[in-house]
Amino acid sequence: MRRRLTENPLRPAEATAAGRENGNGMERHGLTPAVFLDRDGTIIEDRGHLRSPADVVFYPDTAPALARLQKHFRLFVVTHQPGIAGGVVSADEVARVNAHVVARLRGHGVVITEVYCCPHRRDERCGCIKPNPFFLREAARAFGVDLAQSFVVGDHPHDVALAANAGAAGIYVLTGHGLKHRAEMRGCKAIVPGIREAADWVLACRAMRMREAAQPGLLDRAAALLRGGGLVAFPTETVYGLGAAVFDEKAVARVFEAKRRPRFDPLIAHVSGPGQLPLLAETVPPAAEDLIGRFWPGPLTLVLPRSAAVPDLVTAGLGTVAVRMPRHPVALELIERAGAPVAAPSANVFGHTSPTTAGHVIEQLGGAVDMVLDGGPCAVGVESTIVSFACAPPALLRPGGLPVEEIEAAVGPLDKARPPDAGAVAAPGMLPRHYATRTPLRLVARRAALRPAAGARTGALVYRRAPDAGGFAAVEILSADGDLREAAANLFGAMRRLDGMGLDGILAETVPDAGLGRAINDRLGRSAADRA
Ligand code: TXA
Ligand code: MG
Repeated sequence: MRRRLTENPLRPAEATAAGRENGNGMERHGLTPAVFLDRDGTIIEDRGHLRSPADVVFYPDTAPALARLQKHFRLFVVTHQPGIAGGVVSADEVARVNAHVVARLRGHGVVITEVYCCPHRRDERCGCIKPNPFFLREAARAFGVDLAQSFVVGDHPHDVALAANAGAAGIYVLTGHGLKHRAEMRGCKAIVPGIREAADWVLACRAMRMREAAQPGLLDRAAALLRGGGLVAFPTETVYGLGAAVFDEKAVARVFEAKRRPRFDPLIAHVSGPGQLPLLAETVPPAAEDLIGRFWPGPLTLVLPRSAAVPDLVTAGLGTVAVRMPRHPVALELIERAGAPVAAPSANVFGHTSPTTAGHVIEQLGGAVDMVLDGGPCAVGVESTIVSFACAPPALLRPGGLPVEEIEAAVGPLDKARPPDAGAVAAPGMLPRHYATRTPLRLVARRAALRPAAGARTGALVYRRAPDAGGFAAVEILSADGDLREAAANLFGAMRRLDGMGLDGILAETVPDAGLGRAINDRLGRSAADRA
């Protein structure tokens, strides 16, 4: 049943000239998709009733995120200001604050088409209060918004309910009141840390819809392949995964073959929600529940006592199973439609650089998989952080896309010394040499050491600025702005580009060793191991 069906990544349809003109690449029949943004706790900090522009504090991610969105969506703000009816703020004060929000964004090149404001208290039973879709219908009428192709982003369950009531898609952010009402959002998959990841989510949904429009039934075919024992490479927010149905031992065996991965290295089971955990894990300790509530979906893998139902091949015979819920609409939709969790390692040949685009997967594994689902470039770019609950205190097995500082702030200090596990490979991708380039890569901690070897063609992989010494055959800068998130997203692509140039060597400089920097330094260190 080995159906060879490597679907080449489809180029998204080109934006129409008209669409481009009004900044909208997705017009259908003259209708335009939109993103409706809650104000407080979503694009600006929630600091109670704001009376004056001086009280407004933008999240640093807001303007860049909205700038990305407005290339394809009309932007609206929909806000509830009951302080007006309550007499705490005046309608004029609120209007001035809203005008300031619009003007500040305009200063960053971001256009808000309209700000819709409900001034009523809930007990007034007005028609415009969230989650009534009053303003969204108004936008549909006044601006030709296609609500079925639109999104609502907000930090309150009402924002997500508003989307549902209008036939749009809701995205829940954990800024503002988000974390407080998180428990009410069981069953909602579109939960993200903030506006930046909300934009990632919206754009991934858009790409998915466009591919489905061009190839109807694409996701259903992918899910059917998984159910039939096939291998499907799929996007996640970290890196692309090579998926097989977790309870299908034969399919899982094919994953090991395709990757040339040693059988002692266990796989991560990907779930579409915490509801699938009982299928895989015997118990979930309270601290793990806590992390799930804060960080799922997201780049966090939990190692938990396994259920007997999980094949030994998946866990490499360990008493534990690694589980994560990815923060990518394509991954979640695929797992959901496959009807069971999906075992997936990163979709690369064992020991090599992980793929962050569908093209990377096809280069390395093209012939060995049944389908590659293209979900665009991965937003995070390094693999998930792995925390084991097989011991106390819980142990960090691999630094990754979720900064360990955030985990420790929630559940206290982790054991960061490599845990002495029974098996050969205590832990994860924790073989000293991993993520390797073919070209010898050497890591330097000091700028001054960043000089090309005489007579050799050397590439430089640097954090913020070009090397002080000249003479490099190629230079890759991970983030000119010194943003570790951008650096992580660029890391594996930059390594691959340098590796593809037939250089004699690569010199890489370490990045600040905090937050995502730990994951970046870890990957660089493993790529360089044995060669220093
Ligand atoms: O971001 C990610 O985690 C990506 C995407 C596809 O989800 N996946 C990924 O998988 O990086 P992989 O196989 O390349 O790395 C998973 C690591 C392995 O190194 C493995 O040793 C470790 O997780 N692991 C899996 N199950 C484990 C277990 N029961 N105990 C300890 N480590 C485990
Ligand atoms: Mg809010």
